Amino acid sequence: MNDIGIAPSILAADFGYLMRDIKAIEENAEYLHIDVMDGHYVNNISFGIPVIESIRKYTDIKFYTHLMITNPEKYIKAFADAGSDNITFHLECSEDPDSLIKEIESYGKTAGIAVHPDTPIEKVFPYIGKVKIILVMTVYPGFGGQGYLASSGERIRKLKNAIDEAGADTVISVDGGVAESTIKEIYDAGARLFVAGSAVFHADDPAQAIENLKQCCI
Ligand code: DX5
Ligand code: ZN
Repeated sequence: MNDIGIAPSILAADFGYLMRDIKAIEENAEYLHIDVMDGHYVNNISFGIPVIESIRKYTDIKFYTHLMITNPEKYIKAFADAGSDNITFHLECSEDPDSLIKEIESYGKTAGIAVHPDTPIEKVFPYIGKVKIILVMTVYPGFGGQGYLASSGERIRKLKNAIDEAGADTVISVDGGVAESTIKEIYDAGARLFVAGSAVFHADDPAQAIENLKQCCI
C-alpha cells in the first residue's frame, strides 16, 4: 500500500479558496499536482508562476508541476525558483529532453516526462531510468473532469515491462480520469503515482477521498 501516491490536481480546486483546499489534503497526499497550461500546447489557460510562488509560502507539500506548455526550456528556472519539487514537461514539447532533465536536476529538483495519449508510448522508453516520473496522460491534456481513456491500460503495461526490463526505479504516474471506478485497473497495469483532480477536490471530504482511492488498490 505505501508504494501508492496520490497527487491531487489543483485544477479542480476552488481558486477562490485555494489554500483552504490545499490544507484539506496536505496531510494525506504525497504531492500537489499543479497544472500549468499556456493556451498553445493545450486549448486552455490555467495559471502560472506567481500562483505557485504564493502557495509555496503556506504549505510544505511537495509540488509536482505539470507543464503543458510549448518551449518549456524557457521557463524551467522560473518554475524551479517558484518552489516546484518535481517538474514534468511534455515529450512532445521538447526537442532536447536530455538537456531539460539535466537543467531541472541542476536546480535540485526531480524531473518527469509526460506523454500525450496520441504519442506512441515507446517514444518515452529512452528516458526510463533518467527521470523520476513518467506521466502517462490518460485523457487529452487541457481540461479536468474528462473520462479515463480505456486504451491506456495497454500503454501503461508496456511501459511497466520496459521499466522492469531496465531494472530502473522510474515511477509510472497517470493523469486524467482517475476515480474509484478506474484506479484499481490502472494500479494493476503498473502505475503507482495517481493524479486526481475531480475525484479529490469535488468530494465532500477530500482527505477521505484520497484514502478511499488508496483503498481501492488493495
Ligand atoms: C489535464 C490535467 C489533469 C487534470 C485531471 O490536462 O493534466 O491533471 O487536472 O483532472 P481529473 O482528475 O478531473 O481528470
Ligand atoms: Zn496534470
